[in-house]
Amino acid sequence: MAGNKSLNAAAAAKQDEFYTQITDIEKELRHYRKHFAGKTILCNCDDPFESNFFKYFVLNFNRLGLAKLIATCYAGSPIVYTQMNLFGEPEEVVQAEREKKPYKVEVTQVYDTSGDGGVDMLDVAELFRTGKNALKLLEGDGDFRSPECLALLDEADIVVTNPPFSLFREYVATLMAYNKKFIIIGNKNAITYKEIFPLLQGNLMWLGAKPMGGSLWFQTPDGFSKKSDKVVDGIKLTEVPCCWFTNLDIKKRHEQMILVKRYDPDAYLRYANFDAIEVSATADIPCDYAGLMGVPITFLDKYNPDQFEIVGSSKDLGKPMKDVAEKGTYLAGGPRFYIKQKNGDYLYKRLYDRIVIRNLHPEEAK
Ligand SMILES: C[S@@+](CC[C@H](N)C(=O)[O-])C[C@H]1O[C@@H](n2cnc3c(N)ncnc32)[C@H](O)[C@@H]1O
Repeated sequence: MAGNKSLNAAAAAKQDEFYTQITDIEKELRHYRKHFAGKTILCNCDDPFESNFFKYFVLNFNRLGLAKLIATCYAGSPIVYTQMNLFGEPEEVVQAEREKKPYKVEVTQVYDTSGDGGVDMLDVAELFRTGKNALKLLEGDGDFRSPECLALLDEADIVVTNPPFSLFREYVATLMAYNKKFIIIGNKNAITYKEIFPLLQGNLMWLGAKPMGGSLWFQTPDGFSKKSDKVVDGIKLTEVPCCWFTNLDIKKRHEQMILVKRYDPDAYLRYANFDAIEVSATADIPCDYAGLMGVPITFLDKYNPDQFEIVGSSKDLGKPMKDVAEKGTYLAGGPRFYIKQKNGDYLYKRLYDRIVIRNLHPEEAK
């Protein structure tokens, strides 16, 4: 059992080492530009000289009008220190390298130090080397939950990162406890976690700008591989079904969905274990239905809180179908919604997760 536990921990640690591509960061963050001016940004799962989040913010520091950029790295990361030569070996860094200790950086100014007319990472390194910006060893291991990292969280206005997938629930809980604004990446599965869904339902967090269809491709360390991996420009990339989560306002959240279908009791089936209709594609939401509707989780991509209310999830609302199970007509996996079948081996079909919604302004039924 103990062996299994450590194998699971090792697998989880590998799953945590997924490095976000700069193009994905640029594509998402352009939707939040108005939020950054005068703000302190924290990247708290980011080795400054490896993370593209740090790179994005430091190279756009003046353009975005940032007040400060803070990044901390984690002792457990296998890539920590692989780029340290960029710092030009000040004493603290030599010591850090020797002891494999994590560190923090605090950037308050970024300018062209070489006189070549632009700002690049060598200028950024030079500003650390000359003490214009601060680079300090951390006392602990850089865990985002450690007191010194929490003090930095307290100081920050907006947290932007791709946190460890295995700690996503705890990571979000920490952001919530500190009442922070954030833009973070998480696995799509997180949407239905019992700790995460209530935040989406309560409008405390929503999906970012990237559409839910499709995945993100991450750079992964040697020793991790999936069948679907691809190599682009010599870099191995792994696909993970991820989306962005935020509590910063974005335009997409205010777009009205145009509803073209009308309710027809013959076309929309009712669930066997909850009083709502099944709408298997978001585009089929009837414009004139005032009752409860179950929709796929991809609905969240179109969710406008002025147009719809999220009432709950099929995981919580679906009444258990015990009798059905005893007769062998149950497809494993707990509650969720069931639809009576006309034909086939089973009496009922159990559906994928559904979100239960209500249209706040239904049209008059004809
Ligand atoms: C999914 S990777 C993303 C790295 C980077 N943010 C990026 O997007 O490229 C998550 C990072 O969090 C680090 N990490 C793991 N556990 C951590 C913890 N408890 N506190 C802070 N960082 C942690 C991992 O070492 C890894 O570098």
